[in-house]
Amino acid sequence: MIFRQLFDATSGTYTYLLASRHGGEALVIDPVLERVDRYLQLVRELDLKLVKAVDTHLHADHVTGLGALRDRTHCISVMGEQSRADVVSMRVTEGDRITIEGLSLDVLYTPGHTDDSYSFLLRDRIFTGDTLLIRGTGRTDFQNGDPRAQYDSIYNKLMKLPEETLVYPAHDYKGETVSTIGEEKLFNPRLKVKSIDEYVEVMNNLKLANPKMMDVAVPANMQVGLRQAEIANKGWALSAAEAIALCGRPGVTMVDLREQGERDKHGVIPGSLHAPYSELHAFVRAGGMLHELAAATGKRVVFYCAYGERSAMAVQAAQDAGIGSACHIEGGIAAWKSASGPLTR
Ligand SMILES: [Fe+2]
Repeated sequence: MIFRQLFDATSGTYTYLLASRHGGEALVIDPVLERVDRYLQLVRELDLKLVKAVDTHLHADHVTGLGALRDRTHCISVMGEQSRADVVSMRVTEGDRITIEGLSLDVLYTPGHTDDSYSFLLRDRIFTGDTLLIRGTGRTDFQNGDPRAQYDSIYNKLMKLPEETLVYPAHDYKGETVSTIGEEKLFNPRLKVKSIDEYVEVMNNLKLANPKMMDVAVPANMQVGLRQAEIANKGWALSAAEAIALCGRPGVTMVDLREQGERDKHGVIPGSLHAPYSELHAFVRAGGMLHELAAATGKRVVFYCAYGERSAMAVQAAQDAGIGSACHIEGGIAAWKSASGPLTR
C-alpha cells in the first residue's frame, strides 16, 4: 500500500494520500487548498490516478482542497450526509464504504466536534479527523459541536477498536504524527474523565479563541459545489420534472453514473443503463458503448448521479468526445426524488 502523511504547517493539518499500488487509483483525505499543487505533483510522481477526495468534516481552520482537486482531476468529492457543504459528489453515512481500486474505507459517523464529523477505518488504521486527536480531542464549541455526542463517538465507537489500531488525526500542533487507540486510552488527558457529565464540563470550559481562518474557511467550504448553472447555460441540463417527462421515451437513454452501493441504497431510474463515473472515459470515447449507441440510434443520452455533480462533469466529457446529445439531470437523484420520480431497486 502507498500511504503518505502530508502536512500543512499554516493550519497544522494532516492530509493523507492512499493507494494500493503504483499506477493505480488514489484517494486523498482532508486536502488543504494551498497544498493542492503539491498533492498533484506527488500523484504524478507516484504514477497514481486521483479518483476520490474526502473531507472528514467541514473545516473551520483552512479552505478545503476538495473543489480544486475535483476541478483539476475530475475526481469524486466525498463528505458525510450531514455536511452543509453545498453539494459534494457523493455523500456517505455510518456503515458505508468508500472504495478505490484495492482499498476500502469503513465509514464511522463520529459527531461531536461538528455534526458532520466522520472517521474512516482502513485495516489497521483509522483517520479520526478532529474527533480524536493525539493526546487531545477536537473542540466542540461551534459548528453544531456537541461534547455529549463526542464522548459517545469516542467511547462507544473509536475506543471499541482494537488497541493496536493506529490513529491518524486531521491535525497536530506539536509535531506528533501517529498514535494508537491503546495509547490514547492510557494517556489522552481529555479521556481521564469519570463520566460523560465531567467530559461535557471540561469541553464547555476550554475558552478557546475562534480559529483565525474561521470567517473565511467556513463559508468557502460550504461552496465546493460545481457551478451546475454553467452546464445549464449551455443547454445541457434537464430539471428533474423535465427528465421525469422523458423517462421511458424511446428516443432517450438514461445513464446512471453512481457506484453500485449508491444504487442499492437509493434505487435507480427504471430502464436506465449503468456506467460508473470512474469508467466514464471508456464509455464515451469513440468506440465506447455510449458513443456508439448515440451514433447508431440518435438517442439522447441523459446522465444522472446523486446530486448532479458527477453528471455535470460527465456531460462535459461526453460533449468533448463528440456526443452532442449528452445532457444531465440537474440535482441528480436527490432532485428526482423530491419531484416524485419513479425508482426501482
Ligand atoms: Fe475541525
